[in-house]
Amino acid sequence: MEAVNSSVWKWAWLGGCLALTVGCAERARDPLPPPADVCADAPQTTVDFVTQVQPILETKCATCHRPGGIGTFSLQSPEEAKALAPTLRSAVCGRRMPPWPPSNQCNTYAHDRSLTDAQIVTLRDWIDSGADIAGAVAHAPVAPGGLSRVDRELPLPEPYQPTITPDDYRCFLIDWPDTEERFITGFGVEPDQAAEVHHVILFRIAPENTAPLLQADVDDPLPGYSCFGGPNPSTSKKITTLGVPSMVGVWAPGALGVDFPAGLGARMKVGSKLVVQVHYNLAAGMPTVDRSKVLLKVDDTVEREAFLIPFVDPNWVRSAKMNIAAGQKDVFHAFRHVGTDFTDKISAGVLPRTSAFEVHGAVLHMHTRGTWASLSVERHAAPAASQCLLELPRWDFHWQGLYLFDHPQRVEAKDDLRLECHWDNSAPGATELNWGEGTADEMCLGFLLATAPAPE
Ligand code: HEC
Repeated sequence: MEAVNSSVWKWAWLGGCLALTVGCAERARDPLPPPADVCADAPQTTVDFVTQVQPILETKCATCHRPGGIGTFSLQSPEEAKALAPTLRSAVCGRRMPPWPPSNQCNTYAHDRSLTDAQIVTLRDWIDSGADIAGAVAHAPVAPGGLSRVDRELPLPEPYQPTITPDDYRCFLIDWPDTEERFITGFGVEPDQAAEVHHVILFRIAPENTAPLLQADVDDPLPGYSCFGGPNPSTSKKITTLGVPSMVGVWAPGALGVDFPAGLGARMKVGSKLVVQVHYNLAAGMPTVDRSKVLLKVDDTVEREAFLIPFVDPNWVRSAKMNIAAGQKDVFHAFRHVGTDFTDKISAGVLPRTSAFEVHGAVLHMHTRGTWASLSVERHAAPAASQCLLELPRWDFHWQGLYLFDHPQRVEAKDDLRLECHWDNSAPGATELNWGEGTADEMCLGFLLATAPAPE
């Protein structure tokens, strides 16, 4: 996911370390402690299926576990839930389901998919007391939606049948249809083949940067072109530069479309393109022709222009200094930098240099060997403190997302931003890894959804 004009940055090389090595420029942090096991006690209460359990299953499970959904079996009917009760218990008590990668001990997020401790205990008590479903009736599937308004419905330019098993990463170019400058203020995906569309990342490409991508599309006989992680063709050996940061949003199954926080939007110049990267996962069955749609909310004006600004050590990208030795169980790289002295460069001057900015959400991106990652603000004003923005304690390549914060965080001019990623490269036959675009390469990349500070 190269979206970084690294030549504008002149940051110090901090080097990479094994987690146990002493003397690294940045020491590895301890991960946040795992959440408490709330299922350890015996059942406490009598639970009513219709009023207490069914609402949880419908709003937190059947969004994915329904016929045609990404969850491999349905939990829509009471009978289905009862039949699978023991499996549900383990998935819920182990906090594997619903999939919700961020640590809630780090920060609080809008659209949090996870269950509260009380909801876990309710499900556990229902299951442990016999999973009674007396009097229950199946309800209609939960309506998809989420965007407050859909202003543009942009289907993939052509239907595409995935060809690579089990994972096909494909980029499609879509013309930005508007003839006046506008702002994207919300993003969602309507998957056509929900059982195979595993994640979608949307990038905006300014008119001056579209040529190499158009060429890749022409060179590839099938619709779109092959890409991995970012909008660049996976055939490109050299890391190309797409200028200003280009990501608009990340969609993972089960996520409803989301409006950006009120008043924020991403500027779309006339003549731009959108790159839609679709990850097709064929584990669930035969490849099926897909024509998913991107759904956008669009506004003429916004109060503040929003940027998904990349945060990464340019030496990892530019000089392959993110080496991950073979045979090691825990390799980490960390990078720390004054947060505000580059924002002007990558926001075309909209975010002023060396003044505060506001962060409304974050993304962490690695490839398949990642184990955990974190992004934080290191405050220097007294009392100095580390402010966790996003920590993904069990990295899962299949569940990536843009996590919007409940409350925006202000980054002051003197604060540092800090990024840390860990990898397990101990699998038999492992080779040394480094930064790159391919499935066999790795990345450690943070994105901050940033704006100028709120007006006083
Ligand atoms: C965002 C989509 C999504 C939601 C919401 C979701 N699931 Fe799943 N679930 C999946 C997918 C996809 C799989 C299969 C692959 C995997 O394990 O990631 C799965 C697998 C499972 C499994 C079998 C694997 C395991 O880990 O035990 C169980 C049981 C399960 N889900 C229960 C639930 C329950 C109960 C809920 C609600 C409390 C829920 N799921 C909510 C997507 C979802």
